[in-house]
Amino acid sequence: MNALALPLARPASVASEPARAKPVIRLEAVTKIFQPRGRTAPVTALADLTLDIAEGEIVGIIGRSGAGKSTLVRLINGLEKPTSGHVIVDGVVLSELAESDARTARRSIGMVFQHFNLLASRTAAGNIALPLEIAGVAEAEIKTRVDELLGLVGLSVERDRYPSELSGGQKQRVGIARALATKPKVLLCDEATSALDPETTGQILQLISRIRDEIGVTVVLITHEMAVVKAIADRVAVLDEGHLVETGATFEIFAHPGHESTRAFVAATAKVDMPDVLRTRLEAEPIAGGATILRILFSGPHATDPILARLSRSTGVEFNIIAAQVEFIGGRPFGNIIVSVPWSKQTIDTIQASLQGLGLSSEVLGHVA
Ligand SMILES: Nc1ncnc2c1ncn2[C@@H]1O[C@H](COP(=O)(O)OP(=O)(O)OP(=O)(O)O)[C@@H](O)[C@H]1O
Ligand SMILES: [Mg+2]
Repeated sequence: MNALALPLARPASVASEPARAKPVIRLEAVTKIFQPRGRTAPVTALADLTLDIAEGEIVGIIGRSGAGKSTLVRLINGLEKPTSGHVIVDGVVLSELAESDARTARRSIGMVFQHFNLLASRTAAGNIALPLEIAGVAEAEIKTRVDELLGLVGLSVERDRYPSELSGGQKQRVGIARALATKPKVLLCDEATSALDPETTGQILQLISRIRDEIGVTVVLITHEMAVVKAIADRVAVLDEGHLVETGATFEIFAHPGHESTRAFVAATAKVDMPDVLRTRLEAEPIAGGATILRILFSGPHATDPILARLSRSTGVEFNIIAAQVEFIGGRPFGNIIVSVPWSKQTIDTIQASLQGLGLSSEVLGHVA
């Protein structure tokens, strides 16, 4: 079973809340323009981006290749300065700091990388100790802290193993523990699960979610995978060609994706799709005596009601279920079902109006003979 499909225990209130009171990260009208060498035109990697991330939130930032995700990471951790606008982390305006101060400020941000970036010459414990040694923490204190962190990520037994003796998932656990060593306010995860298989991805995401619950760290997940966002993010921000095109509670983004780019991400992760045999026969225009294929999204207060049975009784129409799934996003049920019904304009209009009346959305996917 794909671990990503598992609903994670989380208070339902968190998922529906927009940014909570106190922002830990504040991006104010941030624009980043690169001037590549040579005579190429300047590249606007981020354009007028404004976003607040509240303390203790898990925010997923998703975008296609070239959308500006890595640029955003480098701005949040102070490695790059915006061309205009402000980047404020934990009350410090990073975009205005001198390099030496920026280094200190960076300690309030823990970075987790796609390829772990562990030192091959150091054990798990040694890698976790490194940022503490650099920060000049006393030896005894380092030892206590490293033990604590190894326990937190479930690696106490593997403490003396070298990276080459650890699995990908274990290496990422070391990466997470190291990122948390200096007790940062923010955990910035850049494609942290992209090199892992789906099951290990699920375990790492559950670990991140548990860490947020236990220590209240704010988590920013940069990813191109909607499944990652769906598994643990409270809120989603969608980047497209440098623009922030959509933000919202994860559940709302899934239930009502607004931007074309968001719809593409949502569709790519939907596990419910038409069988190919049907898809190839799909026509855009209705066919007399044929059937209409409808997708119904079940969300909101009626998500778990026996809607199809009720609709069938009230309209006298028999539904043929082609594909269906109910999953939990942000702790709330989200159903996705594809049905076929005998075509008549009146029938389809009635069904869609009834669904709309219940706050459920539906979409005609096409028609078959
Ligand atoms: N140092 C640079 N000089 C010039 N252009 C740059 C530089 N860094 C990034 N860019 C450009 O800015 C845009 C955004 O790049 P960025 O690396 O942030 O995208 P991304 O969303 O991380 O993509 P991917 O998913 O492929 O990693 C791209 O068009 C890229 O070519
Ligand atoms: Mg990138």
